[in-house]
Amino acid sequence: MKECFENEISWIHSKSIQQFARYCVDNLPDYFFTVPASSSGKYHPSYALGDGGLVRHTKAAVAVAHELFNLEMFQKQFSETEQDLILLSLILHDGKKQGGGNGKHTVFEHPLYAADFVKECNFECSKLTDEQEQIVRNAISSHMGQWNTARNSRTVLPKPADKIQKFVHMCDYLASRKFLEVNFDAISY
Ligand SMILES: [Fe+2]
Repeated sequence: MKECFENEISWIHSKSIQQFARYCVDNLPDYFFTVPASSSGKYHPSYALGDGGLVRHTKAAVAVAHELFNLEMFQKQFSETEQDLILLSLILHDGKKQGGGNGKHTVFEHPLYAADFVKECNFECSKLTDEQEQIVRNAISSHMGQWNTARNSRTVLPKPADKIQKFVHMCDYLASRKFLEVNFDAISY
């Protein structure tokens, strides 16, 4: 199951960012690979529900970015390294969706947990520069966009501020729209 993002990792140009992605995926909590993207079913398309739904949601969000990077306008807007960091951020953005333990339900602060996870992984394997680590942590922390508060939490999540953060949020947003179903067999690898 830990190999399930090899295709997405192959879209990353930089070898060190690829190695970092692999290290992180290998250390994601076990529940990540089995839980649905939404326990209520309210906020995600049908492919993201049921067993493995969070993995499929994640794959869809990464594929949205990958497809958009075929466009000249985004190739001009983002350097290859920035594209790599966006793909990496999307692979990991929901990696701690149900928190650090065994997981039972979505934790509102999950973007902050996932950002901390990136920090811990880079402390252990040192594959990202400090600047790259910060870019990824910021993109992951702000991926919820305008949905940055919750009734049961005092935490206020950061909102996307720069072009990388906004792009990551947009890809995650599109991968959670009910009207957009994904044909996973047609994703261009
Ligand atoms: Fe997501």
